[in-house]
Amino acid sequence: MKSGTDEIRLSPRSSANESMDVSSIRSFKYALRGSENWWKVVLVCTLIFLFTSGYERSSAQRQVLPGDPLRGLTAYEFEEFKLGLDDFLEVENAEEGLGPAYNNTSCAGCHNVPAIGGIAPMTTTRAGIRGDDGSYRDIEPGRDSLFQLFSIPTHGCQSMIPPEANVISRRVPIPLFGAGLVEMVSDNTLLRMADPEDLDRDGISGRAPIVLDLVTGESRVGRFGWKSQRATLMDFGGDAYRNEMGITNDLFPNELTFRLSEQQLALCDALPDPEDVVEPSTGRRGIDNFNSFMRFLAPPARGPITKEVVTGRLVFESIGCSMCHVPSLTTARNSNPLFDQRAVNLFSDLLLHDVGTGDGIGQAGAAPEELRTPPLWGLRFRRPLLHNGSASTVTDSILRHTNEASAARDGFLSLSPYDRSTLIAFLGSL
Ligand code: HEC
Ligand code: HEC
Repeated sequence: MKSGTDEIRLSPRSSANESMDVSSIRSFKYALRGSENWWKVVLVCTLIFLFTSGYERSSAQRQVLPGDPLRGLTAYEFEEFKLGLDDFLEVENAEEGLGPAYNNTSCAGCHNVPAIGGIAPMTTTRAGIRGDDGSYRDIEPGRDSLFQLFSIPTHGCQSMIPPEANVISRRVPIPLFGAGLVEMVSDNTLLRMADPEDLDRDGISGRAPIVLDLVTGESRVGRFGWKSQRATLMDFGGDAYRNEMGITNDLFPNELTFRLSEQQLALCDALPDPEDVVEPSTGRRGIDNFNSFMRFLAPPARGPITKEVVTGRLVFESIGCSMCHVPSLTTARNSNPLFDQRAVNLFSDLLLHDVGTGDGIGQAGAAPEELRTPPLWGLRFRRPLLHNGSASTVTDSILRHTNEASAARDGFLSLSPYDRSTLIAFLGSL
């Protein structure tokens, strides 16, 4: 079993424990003074100490904590990661371009559980129009379906959902741990797994949506977001900076407002666009910094692998969960060894499926009923579950799977209580 040990970072964390061990052994020696065989006790204690401190050090090395960078960054890359982290944390205000409409004041405001880069227990709101034939359209063609929650004073540019909207959806944040590895999986790897017409007749299709990468202007396979709506982290970061925070940038140069005239907008937001400009001291834009931070974030390490967990993994495969939650993909060749043909143990095919929970919003290459298979790595750090946060437990979310995932759900329902408990233990180790 792969356990994510690819991404190991040397960590000085064990030093506090070691000094505690030294002092406790000293006091033990003191208490034994006078005993004839004290030197034997000291020898045994020293051996125990050497053994346990060595053991501790190696387990500390093996452990990657959420929010850590990938192991093996160059000093330059680490500097880029830190600059990115600073910008990701930075709380913006209206003078710096926040708004006029926005969802939060920093990236980290929605990506911080259990560490910076993770999630937050909040949802964003999207709205649109569904026809009787199941088709979807945005309320204003060309405008995104997002309706921000907040606006800067005097609130003249608050976005409001108009009454003609007949589909309103909510979405929870997605953690960014390991996102750089996900980005480096080739389009071909994803296209090879896709089976849009279900030619192998296993009941599972799976589509690789083609989206436009705004950075290069190329058509790419989308893989980020609940709808696999973007192909690259740079693109997603630019989209998030404008949509979530109202900070326009080179990729998204216009404010996302709703039915506002130029004059109304000028009253709310007098800053020229794009608002995200090159910082003279670093030569970088905000979107460059976000990109570095996300690219270098390490994937979440696995929890303890017990006997139940090992059995549960077999159950996971035997009932067909792994047909969509594919345990491991491999990155393409890359001149940077951090990303060169690395295992990405994400438990997802990154493809779009209809599992009966679709949010009714068509977006980029995704149909209204489709959602990307969410990677299950780091599942134990994530609640609530499902795209809209409507499931409290892992069991709830499995029971909500239908359509393409009906067979897997039926498999789950027919498990013995023991097998079911091992499956839950396995999912709890992710
Ligand atoms: C208001 C909360 C909020 C803020 C602020 C926010 N995000 Fe997010 N983020 C989300 C939500 C919700 C999603 C899922 C969106 C979707 O797919 O519809 C998401 C998804 C993402 C993803 C996709 C990850 C993946 O693996 O699919 C990336 C990348 C991302 N955000 C980056 C950023 C960056 C960079 C910033 C700051 C510029 C930012 N986010 C600010 C809520 C937020
Ligand atoms: C046909 C593909 C497919 C199969 C098979 C499948 N899933 Fe899923 N799974 C999905 C999709 C798509 C979602 C997202 C649904 C949503 O958010 O509404 C999902 C969501 C989940 C979630 C919630 C994750 C989160 O971050 O919110 C869990 C847990 C999960 N699946 C576990 C399983 C297990 C266990 C099985 C086997 C019983 C299984 N899945 C079978 C596609 C699949």
